[in-house]
Amino acid sequence: MTTASEPGLDLFHNPRAAHGRLYSAAEAAVLDGDGMAAARRDLAAWPGYRATPLHDMTEVARRLGLGTVWYKDESGRFGLNSFKAMGAPYAVLRHLRGVIAGRTGVADAPADEITVGDIIAGKYRDATAGVVVTSATDGNHGRAVAWGAEALGCRAVIYIHEHVSAGREQAIARYGAEVRRIKGNYDDSVRRCAADAAAEGWQVISDTSYDGYMAVPRDVMHGYMVLASEAAEQLPPGVVPTHALIQAGVGGLAAAICATFWQRWGRDRPRFVVVEPRKADCCYRSAVAGKPAATPGDLDTIMAGLAAGEVSPLAWTILQAGADDFLRLSDDYAPRAMRLLAETRPPVVAGESGCAGVAALIALAEHKEAKATLGLGPSSRVLLIGSEGATDPDIYEKLVGKKPAAVAA
Ligand SMILES: Cc1ncc(COP(=O)(O)O)c(C=O)c1O
Repeated sequence: MTTASEPGLDLFHNPRAAHGRLYSAAEAAVLDGDGMAAARRDLAAWPGYRATPLHDMTEVARRLGLGTVWYKDESGRFGLNSFKAMGAPYAVLRHLRGVIAGRTGVADAPADEITVGDIIAGKYRDATAGVVVTSATDGNHGRAVAWGAEALGCRAVIYIHEHVSAGREQAIARYGAEVRRIKGNYDDSVRRCAADAAAEGWQVISDTSYDGYMAVPRDVMHGYMVLASEAAEQLPPGVVPTHALIQAGVGGLAAAICATFWQRWGRDRPRFVVVEPRKADCCYRSAVAGKPAATPGDLDTIMAGLAAGEVSPLAWTILQAGADDFLRLSDDYAPRAMRLLAETRPPVVAGESGCAGVAALIALAEHKEAKATLGLGPSSRVLLIGSEGATDPDIYEKLVGKKPAAVAA
């Protein structure tokens, strides 16, 4: 049942939403508190780690008729411009720790013995130098894999598809990775990467799961859970958001946020709305179908980081009951959201995918019926993840009319 379908937006209430029940063993088998705590320990020990800010966007809230809008701004994460720095580098670390343990005879790869600091300092360079990690990407994930590999002392080969911008390609190559551009869309690049890795004996570091490949994407999502925990701890004491509007590509980020809030706040957790571009709406379609369903075509959305045609099965295990609603919107809301964030106080630099939650709120402000259906109004406390900064500065300037540095200043 589509709850509302209007020119710029469709909203679907998830008939399988289990808002009244607690996080179950089936969900904990995918993402759990121990996995998150382990990720937190390693990421907190990584040089340069600090929590990203949670902005209270009073002016955005007032303009859009809401009580409070909190915006977790991931643009400064490890200097990489996106939340992806919390996922892939942690997964590369876990993989290398296993390799080091195998080659040095240290049992079980204990994190307190094979520390992130020692690996970065080159203590295990002999064991890591021959390792190759690989991934397909829309830009941000591959950049994070490349950055993690360079820091930890192994090689990275990154696959990009036809629509990844030249700026994003350069941003990956900057970290010493070999970048391979293939014909087709994101899902084609995932398949090509998997095939080459199997032939060459490389380790795939993917943010999406598929049959027989679950451990690494779990690590990636446990890393994302750390940012969700940071956000929860940055809220005013005792305050829980009423809504979380979280953007999805393959669904890994949304699932990690959803799982964290579900475990932390149980039945009192925020109403969870998954936001996607209409042109890449695999989570929306999966919710309608009641099982993973793909979006065909070239997925050519301006929200490049969300251009995925197939939901990650692991993410779907969480979202199928954890997400209350699915919203897909037309591309034109993204530049409007970028401009709104640039012109309000505090000014925030957000890329086309990073601003998706704000884009959804703008769309909802214009679609009163959908807004009311979600129970959004002047008493709502909304949490958003600003998942990227200006990851392609040229595209940013074209859409906003200013350079990112001018907005930030
Ligand atoms: C900026 C940005 N936001 C959100 C997402 C969506 O994350 P996921 O694919 O885990 O759903 C991505 C994915 O690449 C991204 O780059």
